[in-house]
Amino acid sequence: MKKTKSSNNNQSLANKTILLIISGGVSAYKALELIRLIRKAGGRVRCILSKGGEQFVTPLSVSSLSGEQVYTDLWSLKDETEIGHIRLSREADLIVITPASANLIAKMAHGLADDLASTTLLAADKPIIIAPAMNHMMWGNPATQENVQKLQSRGIIQIGPAMGEMACNESGIGRMAEPEDIFDNILAFFREEKPLSGYKALVTSGPTYEPLDPVRFIGNRSSGKQGHAIAAALAEQGATVTLVTGPVALPDPAGVHTIHVETAAEMLEAAQNTLPVEIAICAAAVSDWTAKTISAHKIKKQEDNTPPALNLKENPDILATLSRPSAQRPPLVIGFAAETEDLLDNAKNKLTTKGCDWIIANDVGGNEKVFGSDKNHVYLVTKSGHEDWQPASKNDIARKLALHIAGHFEERHYKTTQKNIAAE
Ligand code: C5P
Repeated sequence: MKKTKSSNNNQSLANKTILLIISGGVSAYKALELIRLIRKAGGRVRCILSKGGEQFVTPLSVSSLSGEQVYTDLWSLKDETEIGHIRLSREADLIVITPASANLIAKMAHGLADDLASTTLLAADKPIIIAPAMNHMMWGNPATQENVQKLQSRGIIQIGPAMGEMACNESGIGRMAEPEDIFDNILAFFREEKPLSGYKALVTSGPTYEPLDPVRFIGNRSSGKQGHAIAAALAEQGATVTLVTGPVALPDPAGVHTIHVETAAEMLEAAQNTLPVEIAICAAAVSDWTAKTISAHKIKKQEDNTPPALNLKENPDILATLSRPSAQRPPLVIGFAAETEDLLDNAKNKLTTKGCDWIIANDVGGNEKVFGSDKNHVYLVTKSGHEDWQPASKNDIARKLALHIAGHFEERHYKTTQKNIAAE
């Protein structure tokens, strides 16, 4: 989500202290711009520069821009008597790490404390925002992904990383988010009234498993990453979110009420139990069929090797059911369309056949891996047209969708207010 200009120029950060931790990475220079933006909005910035961070920006430039002493050394007696690593966190309202290197993320995930930055973070009692930045292979490494998921499940807010060219001449996901984006997220954090405060949202995610017998099942391929990211992004924007998820290997997103189910029937029941909601997003890869009868015992191989006949029946369509006109129909119902060909035409047809309001369409037939991957290329398809959202990380798409939904309700509210004024 690259922006050239912050959309929240008027909000003040007066009386807010941000502890900014700059770890090692080429993008450390972007932290300097972030310091400038925070100070311009009236905020105070205290900085910790890690040993790696010092290789990319100097303490002098950081202290000149922040107007404060820069902290670099855990063992500096002077710092410990004057302020100390505990007070650095206690006296801040928010901790922001830009860039968050793979190393610092790993230390946070595992509770290591071998320098000032990691020790302060282990002793921290304040919310933390991280803006990861690293080579795309480092980002995609299962070790980093596990570490990041751990941090997310502890409620740490993650911004980016974005797709694009890297300093090492490779390209992929790993570029640090732009300072304006990070700044907008800092403003959003301090905004008391979040754009989706007071809204209730339901998100379905993951696959469903339809049992054939106590051992076997049929199901779809789905990591749940996109659905889970959407649930987290809606919660970040202030919505009260219920996530109904099939079996996935992901932690429950922080701040989201998560219900675990296995089958489509259970998913439908749990989804209907959350109504009424204002927003329903069906991101689950629901199995189209389920077994007519589930064998009580493990189905045995036939002696003549004839495979057993699969006697299937159709599953309920959760998206179509929620979209049906009724007193409890959510005002905004969003479905997904994973297509291998004629993406936009199929997505538009789906709007009609399912009766939903928007479709997020993604091409799963191309060379790019979507299932289980961290990135996605989606189109927002509505009755009035479509928007190409360009390749981005699943987290960035989720955040963009949450903000788009907030904008939609803001516009609706504005239109209703105008209508009421005209009628008076
Ligand atoms: O019909 P198809 O599977 O292509 O439609 C995809 C959309 O419909 C997704 O939003 C998916 O979550 C939803 N769906 C559903 N219940 C089903 C099948 C699909 O909610 N039984």
